[in-house]
Amino acid sequence: MSDQQKNGVRILGIESSCDETAAAVVEDGRKILSSVVASQIDVHRKYGGVVPELASREHLRQIVPVVRKAMAQAGLQFEQLDAIGVTQGPGLVGSLLVGITYGKTLAAAMGKPLVAVNHLEGHVHAVFLEAFQKGQKPTGPAICLIVSGGHTVLYEVKATGEDGCGPFSYRKLGGTRDDAAGEAYDKVAKLLGLGYPGGPILDLLASAAGNAVAPVKFGPTKTRGNPLDFSFSGLKTAVLYHLHEHPEYTEGIQRREEALRQGHRKFAELLPLCDPATLGLIREFQRAVVRDLVDRSLAAAEECGVEIILVSGGVSANSELRASFETNARGRGFQVLFPDRSLSTDNAAMIAAAAFAGFQQKRFADVGLNARASMPLA
Ligand code: KG4
Ligand code: ZN
Repeated sequence: MSDQQKNGVRILGIESSCDETAAAVVEDGRKILSSVVASQIDVHRKYGGVVPELASREHLRQIVPVVRKAMAQAGLQFEQLDAIGVTQGPGLVGSLLVGITYGKTLAAAMGKPLVAVNHLEGHVHAVFLEAFQKGQKPTGPAICLIVSGGHTVLYEVKATGEDGCGPFSYRKLGGTRDDAAGEAYDKVAKLLGLGYPGGPILDLLASAAGNAVAPVKFGPTKTRGNPLDFSFSGLKTAVLYHLHEHPEYTEGIQRREEALRQGHRKFAELLPLCDPATLGLIREFQRAVVRDLVDRSLAAAEECGVEIILVSGGVSANSELRASFETNARGRGFQVLFPDRSLSTDNAAMIAAAAFAGFQQKRFADVGLNARASMPLA
């Protein structure tokens, strides 16, 4: 019996598309043997967003120790791998090239096949990975909402294989015309003096808002043309105008900016610096984002006649988004699947899982593999 038959197919996944350097080993596209993520948030925080040049430099520093750690956690040597999967795009070219070059070199040196992975397909696989960890086996067509700092897009997803873990075929149903939802979180957090990234802190502060009076209400976003398209820049601008019209927010913003400068960025440190109007504003902003994401996903599921909704990407960690999907979608007979929070944000386990489908189809990349800043799934 070959090692592959005995142990399953073991793939090392490498992810470096944005500001996380990640490596993971996954067996048969479903069993996570290790997963290591080195975040660069501390490097980019003071600039309020990802600085591409700094990101590439950090990936260069991190790639070797992160891969070593992933191999050690899995208890494997490179020879025991069956393939290497690497994110080809979409993402920052300089960052992608670090992972791609490392993956190509390792594959060539070890004589292993290399599989190029679309980062968005990785996010789809993150949901299946989570389902497999829980012993579930989602089958049947689904719609998938990928919602992160770089993407907000809806796909119809169909499995073309038999065992549910791909390969999948995709049809794009809609996407954002301007900012991604996570980008809107990050920009609004910056306006409010709440640092970077904005999603996690705004999520916590919105939950803490309770019944604070809403200082403003944001209506549903209307998009002309495709009703499954998103738009978040208008909402961000509405927050900006509201702040300009109400100078009483300024003092709080300055106090929080000062707290951040001193390194006090935890929820417990920032909450006392937020007055009820600020908390109410954050809650209304989040409510508007969540309503838009949930409404359009449900409309897409109904239009496609599917029963399963997959939600993935950094913003899928949001507690109100999860709760709202639970109540609205489940109440209407849809099954909603999320990855665990650790698999929601960028990681390499999802890349290794997506690479398994390519491995089975023998879709191998050669030394000419190049990074792709834009790489649509469909
Ligand atoms: O998937 P991800 O790690 O990277 C991209 O591919 O963009 O997503 C990062 C994004 C950031 O914009 C961050 O603010 C947002 O996800 N995010 C959240 C939450 N956690 C992370 N947004 C809302 N609520 C959260 N709990
Ligand atoms: Zn991502």
